Amino acid sequence: MEVKFVKSSNDFKSCPKNSKPEFAFIGRSNVGKSSLINLITGVKNLAKTSSKPGKTKLINHFIVDGNWYIADLPGYGFARASKSDIRHYDDLIKGYIFTRTNLYCLFVLIDSRLEPQKKDVEFLEFLGQNEVPFVLAFTKTDKISSNQLEKNIAAFKKIMHQSWETLPEIFIVSAVKRQGREEILRFIEITLAKNN
Ligand code: GTP
Ligand code: MG
Repeated sequence: MEVKFVKSSNDFKSCPKNSKPEFAFIGRSNVGKSSLINLITGVKNLAKTSSKPGKTKLINHFIVDGNWYIADLPGYGFARASKSDIRHYDDLIKGYIFTRTNLYCLFVLIDSRLEPQKKDVEFLEFLGQNEVPFVLAFTKTDKISSNQLEKNIAAFKKIMHQSWETLPEIFIVSAVKRQGREEILRFIEITLAKNN
């Protein structure tokens, strides 16, 4: 797998031409989007990570094998952000989602340690209303027991069932344990093949 950084865009209009399949990673600030991208590409510092939320401020595009894009998006729901910042990121993310016609699938990352969060549930509702294809990835599973993990995922599924008849595919990931890499790569491969 050959991965190259393409560009950072501070506006959806500046994103690379949407002529190739794209997979994007989104979720609340600090959930582990950039770390997951590094895990699946196998390039340690490809996407910049930080223990402080709000690290990724631009839309970063990477290209894999010259064939398909990975997009690292800024987080949503950063509690300490100012109102105007929240507005800016909201617009950026919505603009991206509405204009990225080459988006094959959005990976929505959920912190596996937490009970269902309102911001995540609302974001999924928004995706559903706009028919955006997405899957879920529960992150940081190395930080909780498998018992607690099962409980949190079950609670999340239960809430989703209130709005959805069928649930999206779910991945269990840990950048620390290197868990979920193969499954996600396989999913991407299948999705690319289906649409070819
Ligand atoms: P923003 O760009 O700020 O929205 O954050 P992000 O979602 O890109 O998160 P990032 O990958 O920067 O990770 C945030 C913090 O969580 C960093 O300190 C990472 O090292 C840590 N982290 C990410 N994934 C994992 C994981 O699977 N397990 C553990 N234990 N820590 C993780
Ligand atoms: Mg990031």
